[in-house]
Amino acid sequence: MRRGSIASLLGIGVVAGGCAAAVALALPWLPTPASDEAGRIKPLFWFVIVICIVVFALVIAVMLYSITHFRAAPDDDSDGPPVHGHTGLEIVWTLIPTLLVTSIGIFSAIVLSRNDALGANVLRVNVTAQQFAWSFSYPDAKGLTSGTLRLPVNRSVLLTFTAKDVIHSFWVPEFSQKQDTVPGITTSVHITPNRVGTFPVICTELCGLGHSVMRTQAIVMSPAAFEKWLHGQAKAVSSPSSDVAGAAVFKNNQCGACHTLKAAGASAATGPDLDTLPALAQGAGTPLEEFVRQSIVDPNAYVQKGYPRNVMPATYGKALSKQELDALVQYLISSSKKG
Ligand code: CUA
Repeated sequence: MRRGSIASLLGIGVVAGGCAAAVALALPWLPTPASDEAGRIKPLFWFVIVICIVVFALVIAVMLYSITHFRAAPDDDSDGPPVHGHTGLEIVWTLIPTLLVTSIGIFSAIVLSRNDALGANVLRVNVTAQQFAWSFSYPDAKGLTSGTLRLPVNRSVLLTFTAKDVIHSFWVPEFSQKQDTVPGITTSVHITPNRVGTFPVICTELCGLGHSVMRTQAIVMSPAAFEKWLHGQAKAVSSPSSDVAGAAVFKNNQCGACHTLKAAGASAATGPDLDTLPALAQGAGTPLEEFVRQSIVDPNAYVQKGYPRNVMPATYGKALSKQELDALVQYLISSSKKG
């Protein structure tokens, strides 16, 4: 091989590799990790990306060089020379990919086994997925259910998934892990959140019309704040007073993020003002209690004029236990009568 050929092959390879590296580095492909597991996955991701860039540069260099140097003349219809092969070259191009793929396999196996290793004092959370809502229950707190996933920072968490209808998939981008939820079997994923904050929980398996709205939040809190929430909520939700229990359910499920309710100190205006529920029920021609219950369980059954459909997740109430739903309905009725 002439020195000139090697120089041009190298030149093309460096330019192609440089472009690919620029694309890889210039865009924020992954969010900042928020769990120990994501922190281990990130270097693995970059290990694979670097291998891809090198292979890409090599392929582009040989391809462009061949196109420009070995192009047949327009009137040349002859066959190429009969070449049998090159044993040395074949061994090299078999050995190098074998080593690369094996190294990715070993790296992945190490990361996976470390990510699956539960820490001490594991927090267990049972996750139920259904069209189109997530529900999280805490067996340590008498089965307290919440529509948002609250977790303490720096503690090993084992999420166990069940699906009620079709396949869904649990994904928090900052945790870098996805887990399918499959009817009939339980699946699980281990997470050790290491950054306090609020992150999106996304369903990442097409599961029906409401797939795109099957979202909630993962709220990572300090251990003290989490314990306070967990026990405060467990106690409040099981309170015999529907005002106490309902207020807890209202707060838990972040109803105040979209609605106004004076009694809860909520003043958002995305959805109808809940202080005017008696008037809204009258407008709909439905008895108040039935109206409130239906609006939670099936928000699209009656949509208040001036508000778009499908903004409130279609099956919001499915994340609630019967006890929680009853408490919330009673709380909304009594608060709106005061308001
Ligand atoms: Cu559940 Cu998509």
